[in-house]
Amino acid sequence: MSKENNTDFNISRERMIELLNEDLAGEYQAIIAYVVYSQVLKGAAYTDIARELEAHAGEELAHAIKIAKQIDYLGGMPLVTPKPVKTSTDPVEMLQADLKNERETVGRYRERIRQAEAMGEFALSETLRGIIMQEQEHEIDLSSALGIEVPPAINPREKNASEPRHEQAASSRH
Ligand SMILES: [Fe+2]
Ligand SMILES: [Fe+2]
Repeated sequence: MSKENNTDFNISRERMIELLNEDLAGEYQAIIAYVVYSQVLKGAAYTDIARELEAHAGEELAHAIKIAKQIDYLGGMPLVTPKPVKTSTDPVEMLQADLKNERETVGRYRERIRQAEAMGEFALSETLRGIIMQEQEHEIDLSSALGIEVPPAINPREKNASEPRHEQAASSRH
C-alpha cells in the first residue's frame, strides 16, 4: 500500500455524507449494544464495568446526535439503520465485541478528521475530535475490564485490504 499523503483524504461532500452515515450506523449499533450489555452483564466481577457500559450508552447517543447534526448541516439525510449488533450471553465475548467495535470506530474517526480538515470543515473535525476522545476512553474502560493493554485502532483502509469480503461490500455501494 502506498504511503498516505494529504490528497488521499480529499473527498467530495457527497462522499463525506455517505461516510458519516456509516459512522452514524456504528453509533446506533454502539447505543444498542451498551444498553443491552450493561443490563445483562452479571456477576460480582462485572458490576463496575456494567455501570460504565450504561454511561457509554448515553455518550454514544450524544455522538449519534452530533453526527446526525453534521450530516444535516452538509445537506444530507441521516439514515436510520444500525450496524448489526452481536448477541452473546458470555460477558467476555460481549466486552470483546464492544472493544472491537470501538477500535474500528477510532480508526474510522481518525480518517474522518483528516478528511474533514482536507475539506476545510473545521467545525466537523472539532466535533469528531471530541467524539474520538470519548471513544478512546471507551477502549480503555473495556480493555481494563478484560485485563489487557489497549489494542491498536483498526485502520479502515487496512481492514479493507485484509478482508476482501468487506472490500466487495464497500465497492458495491458506489
Ligand atoms: Fe460513539
Ligand atoms: Fe464508544
